[in-house]
Amino acid sequence: MTRTSLLSALFVAGLAVGHSATAADASGQMIAAQCNGCHGFEGKSVGDAPSLHGRSAALMAKAMMDFKSEARQATIMNRIAKGYSDAEIQNVAEYYANLK
Ligand code: HEC
Repeated sequence: MTRTSLLSALFVAGLAVGHSATAADASGQMIAAQCNGCHGFEGKSVGDAPSLHGRSAALMAKAMMDFKSEARQATIMNRIAKGYSDAEIQNVAEYYANLK
């Protein structure tokens, strides 16, 4: 898959989840659209990536910060975590934690 078609697929995935947004979680939900390709719709994984659905926001934010600083080594998440600000990491962690 080319980079462009991967980005398009992620964008379409974002639109698919977009309709259930509330103003408060829009930012976290927009970021999550970029995670769901691997972690599954609403973070319910069907593949190799772990499920994120309903995880503790604090633990998930810590995992992301550790990936970002490379305190925790991973196959792909170090690169991904570096693409987000600390506030964005907090937003996406809260988004997954608040999914019912
Ligand atoms: C390209 C696929 C891919 C994408 C995109 C992706 N992840 Fe991951 N994620 C993984 C894999 C695979 C792992 C397991 C650790 C590893 O090998 O990197 C993981 C692990 C994690 C973990 C640790 C879970 C645990 O059990 O400790 C968190 C938290 C996480 N990802 C959050 C995210 C967030 C938030 C996003 C979106 C900003 C995201 N991931 C995007 C593939 C992905």
